[in-house]
Amino acid sequence: MTVHFIGAGPGAPDLLTLRGRDLIAASPLCLYAGSLVPEGVLAHCPPGARIVNTAPLSLDEIIAEIAAAHAGGKDVARLHSGDLSIWSAMGEQLRRLRALGIPYSVTPGVPSFSAAAAALEAELTLPGLAQTVVLTRTPGRASAMPEGEKLAAFAATGAVLAIHLSIHLLDKLIAELTPHYGADCPVAIVWRASWPDQRIVRATLATLDAAVGSEMERTGLVLVGRTLNATDFDESRLYAADYDRRYRPVGAEPRFPEAP
Ligand SMILES: C[S@@+](CC[C@H](N)C(=O)[O-])C[C@H]1O[C@@H](n2cnc3c(N)ncnc32)[C@H](O)[C@@H]1O
Repeated sequence: MTVHFIGAGPGAPDLLTLRGRDLIAASPLCLYAGSLVPEGVLAHCPPGARIVNTAPLSLDEIIAEIAAAHAGGKDVARLHSGDLSIWSAMGEQLRRLRALGIPYSVTPGVPSFSAAAAALEAELTLPGLAQTVVLTRTPGRASAMPEGEKLAAFAATGAVLAIHLSIHLLDKLIAELTPHYGADCPVAIVWRASWPDQRIVRATLATLDAAVGSEMERTGLVLVGRTLNATDFDESRLYAADYDRRYRPVGAEPRFPEAP
């Protein structure tokens, strides 16, 4: 018996890995985390599977479900939205399972920041403009931020910020980020990336507030950075015709003469 932690992706049911799909299909118990896991993903559960929404459950109750499945020798598919490596609450569940000696596996998923960037048709790292993406959030009622992880500290680097769980704090984001990025810095918000009702707003830090209007949907990601609508950036050296590299030796004396 194994508990399979599976990243269920950002919303579109076909943005699930094949491995995730197959593990769901082989597990008689599916525990899924609330409204962000689409029904299309749950459709892979085998006939007769028990499907439990864990949104109203406490950690103790979730672990009790898993422990009962373990006692009965039944595999569990444990689904969380996006990828499991960020804001999934997987860590605390794994710690409990390790203490109980219950086996588990971890299968990654498409994170929402990737789905948002795809919706924007954007490469977030462009040569000469930004080479770092910071996945971050603002403090919430359930989660304080560690002392050093201030938005302003990340903003001071000029990196692209992918700000999660913060749609309700746009005023604060604009006020904290404008001194670092400038009022003309591009911003995009993607709500429910990859869902049928996906919505995109593109603006600058100066115009964001008016552009968003009275939108109430909270499942959205804020992307801030100079690469968002850039057209004036360097081409990467990797594909330059004169760039000598292992897979494409160039010139009379290439660095890797025996390259394939
Ligand atoms: C609890 S976190 C889960 C993050 C998830 N594990 C991931 O890999 O993206 C929820 C936040 O992720 C973002 N999010 C999740 N799904 C999204 C989607 N389809 N479109 C836009 N933002 C999304 C929102 O900022 C939301 O408040």
